[in-house]
This record gives sequence, structure tokens and C-alpha cells, in this order.
Amino acid sequence: MPTLLNMRETEHRYPFLMACRKQPTEFTPIWLMRQAGRYMKEYRTLRKKYSFLEMCKNPEIAAQVTLQPIEKFKLDAAIIFSDILIPLEPMGVEFEFAKGEGPVFHHPVREMKDIEKLRVIEPEEEVPFLIKAIRMVRKELEGKIPLIGFSGAPFTLASYIIEGGHSKNYVLTKGMMYQNRPAWDALMDKISDVLIQYLNAQIRAGVQAVQLFDSWVGCLSPTDYEEYVLPYSKRVIDGVDKSVSLIHFATSNSTLLELMKRAGGDVIGLDWRVDIGEAWARLGYEVAIQGNLDPVILFGSVDLIKKEVKRILDRVGGRPGHIFNLGHGILPTTPVENVAALVEAVHEFGAK
Ligand code: CP3
Repeated sequence: MPTLLNMRETEHRYPFLMACRKQPTEFTPIWLMRQAGRYMKEYRTLRKKYSFLEMCKNPEIAAQVTLQPIEKFKLDAAIIFSDILIPLEPMGVEFEFAKGEGPVFHHPVREMKDIEKLRVIEPEEEVPFLIKAIRMVRKELEGKIPLIGFSGAPFTLASYIIEGGHSKNYVLTKGMMYQNRPAWDALMDKISDVLIQYLNAQIRAGVQAVQLFDSWVGCLSPTDYEEYVLPYSKRVIDGVDKSVSLIHFATSNSTLLELMKRAGGDVIGLDWRVDIGEAWARLGYEVAIQGNLDPVILFGSVDLIKKEVKRILDRVGGRPGHIFNLGHGILPTTPVENVAALVEAVHEFGAK
């Protein structure tokens, strides 16, 4: 078991972990959400042989895919290859990735009786492939760069379970929130319990930071976020081992920033719809910040990428505690050479 003291000692080698703690670094660290994926030909080649879920559930493949972007670009952190939906199957919510549709749940959870059947999982026993993949990647990356673990946040996972897949207006999710409060609370309670176990198991296996993805929470008003979501996100964050930093990320979150900070996190992750300088001033400088290049900028020229990198770094103004990232996951058709240009530009212009 790593102690807090020796974790902190090794952190000094890693700009990403230093930035999570708002410590000065020699350059601005960068990693990219969804950095392992379809935009890389190495990924597409493997993906011809396996389904996405087979890749997640095979520790050797998951470890190999995690390392693909690390071998290609000078990224400052790796993120374990998996998915936010992985803990749902052992909870008792089955799904599949239907071609071109994203995840599909054939038996969505909409009533108290369905919620009562959901199980709080033992990650070491029920997602052993994830634990094993983390251990394998840590060995490969020792002394090079740190490894990030992750989970979905309670709201985003609840929305998949209730809607049965991706949703535009979240009518069923909000329906449960507004019209069946006991069911909503029971579901959020159970998901929160699972996430605490799930993230702590990843930390025990060796991840050196964790990110909570609340990808779809931006569909809520601040009042509803505060009432129906904040207590559960806070419970998860409070329940996660404090020896590692936690990044609390959402999209369309510009109206929720102060509330997300109240829920917790050492780092708040921003999408591209906000000015990073203004967002940080609003949040206060006691938290670190991650973001926030529009992923679509990577389809532009290298000059455009450089200009946007400079703009973001100028807005941050060299203050310690900024981790460069996209405002959301990298898109599947992104030109690979532009990713390399982005990483180089951040290191060059972000040198202190
Ligand atoms: O960042 C990383 O490189 C780690 C891997 C990772 C994946 N998904 C791999 C993936 C992470 C961190 C995620 C998180 C995730 N998964 C989120 C939150 C982040 C976000 O984008 O908002 C969400 C909402 C999901 C759920 C999910 N997984 C959807 C909706 C889809 C289908 C949509 C799509 O992009 O095709 C996935 C599939 C998925 N997850 C792929 C990858 C590489 C593509 C699978 C394939 O090869 O077909």
C-alpha cells in the first residue's frame, strides 16, 4: 500500500500530479480525454478483431490500448482504457454497444422494485480485468508518467440506466427526479456506493489520480443540480481515498461551476464553452483547473491550433495548477498529426 508520504515524494517527478496540487511545474502538462481510441490506426487495427467491450474486459488488450497514445505522443499522463459503463453490468444492468447507436440498455431501470435489485459491487471480484489492466500499465509506466483512473458521476450513470441509452432531453431521468423522489434517491444512493468502491479499488490497484466524468449533467439548472445531484457527487468525492487527486469534470457546466466546486475535487474540468481565465477566477484559485480546447479545433490547421493553445495559456497567465486538455473527448476522425502538433505546442508555449 503506498503511503501518503511516499506518494507525495514520487509526485515531484510528475508535472501532471504537481499541477493537480497547484504546485509549479517546468511546463504545462497535457493529456487528452479519450486519448486512446478510434482516431489512432493502431486502435482501429485491434478493434477489427475485438468488440469494444471485449477490449475493455481483456486486461492485456486494455493495457496495450492504454499505452498506444503514450508511445506516439509526449503526453504527461495515461488514462486506463475502459468505459464509464463498465460497473453497470455487475450491478445488474446489462447493455450492449449497438452499431452506430452507442450504448443500449434493454431493461432500463425506472421503478423502485428495479432499483432494489441493483447490486453494490465488489470491484476486485467483479471487474478483475480492470484491476489487472491497471497493475500492468503501472508497471510499464513506472518512472515515466502517472496513470489516471476514472468513473462516471452519479447523474451521468443514472441517466444511462433510466433512459436506456443516450438521451437528448432527459425526460425520463428528470421525470424520476421530479415525480418519484424516493426512487431517485434510492438509485443515486446505490450508484454512489458503487462508485466509492469502484474508484477506491482502482486507487488500491495503483492509479495515481482519478477523474469523475459528469458528461451529461449540463442539462440541469443550477437549482436542480444543487437539490438532486450535488449531495451524491459530494458523497462520492468525500468517499474517495484522499491520497490521490480527483478531477471533477462535466460538460456544458459553465452555470454549475461554483456548485461543482462545492461538491468537491482538487481539479475542476471545464468544457470549451467558457473562458478559462474567467472560470478560474469564479471558482477561486484554491482549486486547480483542467481544459479547455474545443476538440473541433484539432480539425483545423497547425497555425490555428497554435493560436488557440496560446490563447488558453494567456488566459491562464502561468498560474500553477493548470492541466491542459480538450473540453471533451477527442473525436474519432481527428487527424493524428494535429494531436502531435497540439502536444508540442502546449509544451513549447507552456514552458515556464
Ligand atoms: O479517455 C480514455 O482514453 C479512456 C477511455 C474512455 C472511453 N470512454 C473509451 C471509449 C473513457 C474515459 C470513456 C468515458 C466515457 N464513456 C464517457 C464520459 C466521457 C465523455 O465522452 O463524455 C461516456 C459518456 C461514455 C459512454 C460511451 N462509451 C459512449 C456514449 C460510447 C459510444 C459513443 C462513441 O463515441 O462511439 C462509448 C464507446 C467508447 N468508449 C469508445 C471508446 C474508445 C468507442 C468504442 C469503439 O471502438 O467503437
